Amino acid sequence: MYVKSLKLTNFRNYRSLSLELNATINIFVGNNAQGKTNLLESIFLLAMGKSFRAVKEKELILAQQEICIVSGIIQKQATMSLQVSLSTSSQKKILVNKKETSPSDFIGNLNVVLFTPDDLQLIKGSPSERRRFLDSEISQVNPTYRKLYSRYQKILFQRNQALKNFNHKRKNDRDTTDLLAVWDEQLVDVGSKIILKRSEMVYKLNLLARLIHRKITGNLEELSLVYVPFFINDFSEAQEFNKNNWNLDGVKAIFYEKLKSEREAELIRGYSLVGPQRDDLIFLINGVNARRFGSQGQQRTAVLACRLAELEYMKSETGSFPVVLLDDVMSELDIHRRSFLIEVLSNKFQTVITTTDVNDIDSELLRKGTLFEIEAGQVRIK
Ligand SMILES: Nc1ncnc2c1ncn2[C@@H]1O[C@H](COP(=O)(O)OP(=O)(O)OP(=O)(O)O)[C@@H](O)[C@H]1O
Ligand SMILES: [Mg+2]
Repeated sequence: MYVKSLKLTNFRNYRSLSLELNATINIFVGNNAQGKTNLLESIFLLAMGKSFRAVKEKELILAQQEICIVSGIIQKQATMSLQVSLSTSSQKKILVNKKETSPSDFIGNLNVVLFTPDDLQLIKGSPSERRRFLDSEISQVNPTYRKLYSRYQKILFQRNQALKNFNHKRKNDRDTTDLLAVWDEQLVDVGSKIILKRSEMVYKLNLLARLIHRKITGNLEELSLVYVPFFINDFSEAQEFNKNNWNLDGVKAIFYEKLKSEREAELIRGYSLVGPQRDDLIFLINGVNARRFGSQGQQRTAVLACRLAELEYMKSETGSFPVVLLDDVMSELDIHRRSFLIEVLSNKFQTVITTTDVNDIDSELLRKGTLFEIEAGQVRIK
């Protein structure tokens, strides 16, 4: 799949832009603050229905304007049009082939993998970064997961409400206890399915990522991705979990056990302490946790391998490669890693690269691709 054309109206610093993209390599060069990341953000928006960096969605609207529209034509077996529009005064609207749809039906029509200088946060950041990573990757390729995930958020919210309302001065608040029993059952049911899906995804991603990582490091280092569900405390236990072929009933049983043992604490704290909202993912390099012991370069390599593995993962799940968005990452990589990446990018998928310095881009890519220049929200072919 690839993005054939892109149209932005009042999006960030773009007042009006119409762009035809190359089906393979697109290079956008421009100084700082000209709109390079904004452009990638608009493509990401078409894939996920939301931004990867906006704190408030309204900040995507060009200052002083009331609405912004991002639309794109995607080429797959057939062409498809996608559109997201935001307004200062009404709800976000998302359309597939001009028909309004829900966020969970919108995601997955265009798949993307984004590489940014912030990617190190995947290792260095908090567990919530890694959960977000798992959820967004699985959501892109799996409609069932998207629905499970949004149901889980609702159940969790309701359950937290019930816990908060629990009057723990009156030891036996029957109404809340009955209500909690209902939410418990749903939490376990939907939560266990999420855990199984995440574990399956990490299993696949791990196989792909370790192969890529071996190639990048010339067999010197061994990467493993270990999924750590909330009920596991240390990673030797987690590695065992990852090896096992868990079934739904097994996970549900542990989940119930945890619910029982944490019940008292949950009532006191007034929110849920158990469930996949507390999962994590560990990056091990040669058996040690890269978050704590990896050098910056090792962490960067591990993330690169992981992102490249995502490309293969998405291809294996959906049958087509995603669009690759590279935000100013070439300058961060050493020559060896850069040429590895360039080799991978060659021909298989559409790539959109941004850079401040065209000298950071390999001449082979420049020869194959289209070079655009960005200046103050205007784009022209160079
Ligand atoms: N809603 C908005 N309205 C107007 N301008 C905006 C809006 N949001 C962001 N901008 C501006 O867009 C400009 C470009 O941002 P962008 O992050 O795309 O730059 P960039 O080309 O990626 O720069 P860098 O090389 O520093 O990463 C910034 O100057 C920012 O102030
Ligand atoms: Mg930028």
